[in-house]
Amino acid sequence: MEFVRLDGERLTLVFALETGGEADCIYLGARLPGGEDLAMLAATTARGRHESQPDVPPVPGLLPEGKAGWSGTPAVRLSERREDTCVQCATDFRLVAWEQYPDELVLTFYDELLGVDIEQSWRIGASGMVCTEASITNGGGRRLVLDRLSALALPIPHRFTRLTSFTGRWAGEMQEHSRPIAPEGFARTSVAGKPGFAGGNWLILEDPSSGEVLGAHLAWSGDHDTRIDPDMVGSADGRAVLQMGASWDGGEVDLGHEAGYRTPVAMLALAADRSALAQVFHARAILPDRKDWRPRKVHLNSWEALGFNLAESALMRLAEDAASLGIERFVLDDGWFGGRRDDRSSLGDWFVSPDVFPNGLGPLIARVHDLGMDFGLWVEPEMVSPDSDLYRRHPDWCLHTPGRERPAMRGQLALDMAREDVREYLFGRLDALLRENAVAYLKWDHNRDLFPSAPRQTEGFYALLDALRAAHPQVEIESCSSGGGRIDFGVLARTHRVWPSDNNDAIERLRIIPAWSQFLPLEVLGSHVGPSPNPITGRRLSMDFRAKVAVFGHMGVEADPARMSEKERECLAAHIALYKQWRGVLHEGQLHRLAHPDPNVTGMMVTHEGRALALAAQTAFSPVFDAAPLRLAGLDPDARYRVALPDPWPAKARHYLATPDRWREGLTLSGTALMTQGLALPLTHPETAWLIALERLPG
Ligand code: GLA
Repeated sequence: MEFVRLDGERLTLVFALETGGEADCIYLGARLPGGEDLAMLAATTARGRHESQPDVPPVPGLLPEGKAGWSGTPAVRLSERREDTCVQCATDFRLVAWEQYPDELVLTFYDELLGVDIEQSWRIGASGMVCTEASITNGGGRRLVLDRLSALALPIPHRFTRLTSFTGRWAGEMQEHSRPIAPEGFARTSVAGKPGFAGGNWLILEDPSSGEVLGAHLAWSGDHDTRIDPDMVGSADGRAVLQMGASWDGGEVDLGHEAGYRTPVAMLALAADRSALAQVFHARAILPDRKDWRPRKVHLNSWEALGFNLAESALMRLAEDAASLGIERFVLDDGWFGGRRDDRSSLGDWFVSPDVFPNGLGPLIARVHDLGMDFGLWVEPEMVSPDSDLYRRHPDWCLHTPGRERPAMRGQLALDMAREDVREYLFGRLDALLRENAVAYLKWDHNRDLFPSAPRQTEGFYALLDALRAAHPQVEIESCSSGGGRIDFGVLARTHRVWPSDNNDAIERLRIIPAWSQFLPLEVLGSHVGPSPNPITGRRLSMDFRAKVAVFGHMGVEADPARMSEKERECLAAHIALYKQWRGVLHEGQLHRLAHPDPNVTGMMVTHEGRALALAAQTAFSPVFDAAPLRLAGLDPDARYRVALPDPWPAKARHYLATPDRWREGLTLSGTALMTQGLALPLTHPETAWLIALERLPG
């Protein structure tokens, strides 16, 4: 047995490696001192054999298999095609080699009988994120089929006993659920051909005694399988095993002679608490191109303003109203192409509609530019409407089972992205649109589940996106899938923004944005001021409340300014100006969740280079007259800060603040006082929000 350690700035992983046997991770935790005796560490954690176990108790390790009596899900499953049947293989992968680099350990396993090897990589990446992936190659002569290969298999250290997972639905993404890991464990498989709304590609494990957390994510925009198998019957050493990987339908991944498969990357972050976990995931270096991004422009999106009622004159008017609010990018949503006057037709016909734009997009774009904004366009490239010229020309281009019905969703079918001719057509159309029109931004939508199953669909989607990015590197792209149906670090490695939810209701957003921002930086989270009443929830909310909530993200407007009162427009414009002042802090700083005894108060705060902005929002009527003070976080305890409530203030603020004039002037307090005692703000009325600005004073 040999021991190898991988060190990040704050964490250490210790691996126990036995040539011809298993590989295991025997330590995952705070960085160990340099001289730690790893053999002793192994000796103190190893278990003896107990009753009712196989003679050699199985070690699930880093590549758990069904062999030797382990009761959980295997990380690799292979079948063999024999004449007209397919038989599951009994695998036996043994560790045969490993190579260690400064930040990476590569393990090679080999199944001698099958002639198949698996290479598994453990790498410590930017901000201490642990990234794992695996690849498999069939060097034997058998006709194999790969049924499963996990990107990550990790025996979970015993101290992590609680689990937070997420579920959701359209317009209700990322609902949190916490519970003990044992005895049920966890299993979630998506089938829609994308991560979907069910949140199974995000997980948080917690040590309840210290608050330490372990966050896990699969950076993959297709289907996933996430599971935790506790060692329920005690067949192994008592540790539960976490696995994450892509999932696919049986028979899809052929592993003929010399063929291979590579998993997506799984991400694993260890942190002292949930705020610290967010900071590991938010690190700028995690998204490769983010260092080159320009400040996130304020959007106006036409969808909730005009829907499908598009006309050039109405759009020109909307653009003028947008510019007068301080908007910087005008995004033309659905309805601009082919014969698309509702959501039943024309997907695939990516030609500017002459009915809406008799002279093409040119005049509108020119007007948008004159008004000082840039121009964005909605597309949904992977889809086709049965009522479209594309479908009439190429009925075989969609995902379908020959001889079967073609069930639609939102009146549309999905194109087979594994086909090169499909990708060529789409590249041709999108490339032409971007060359012929000054489009700075694409909102890339995906509004249906993929069925029947779609082998290599995600690879095809990535290939198209990559080709387009290479041809038009200056164009920013947003990933939308009926809101948050396709959000993951795989798509984010190729795009600049995600649409977290179709639900713009500020009260819902106060749950949805903190949930996504557990993993994603505010910079990529589209955050729009919607109309009141909200078209999805019917809620009426004041402009002040809607606008304050929207500041915490990549701000935009998705409502028609012509339907707002003069006062509302002023209030919105003031918040847009505030966002512009603060976006540097919001997008580059560290996000902290603020705890408050009232569960209906949401507090978030971002600190950056001595400046900080906090949001405190009350959604329901408070049970007490005087809400408890809001305690701030992430400040330098010894520094003194100037605290101010930037304009505009919510209604009744003057009435409820004890000393409004002092707040106007600004107060000075130490970081310690602000983090210990906090600020007593009027937070009793439902739908009241405050922004709090802090500036560190010199000396
Ligand atoms: C999806 C998106 C919306 C909007 C519509 C247009 O539902 O999530 O934001 O773009 O499509 O059809």
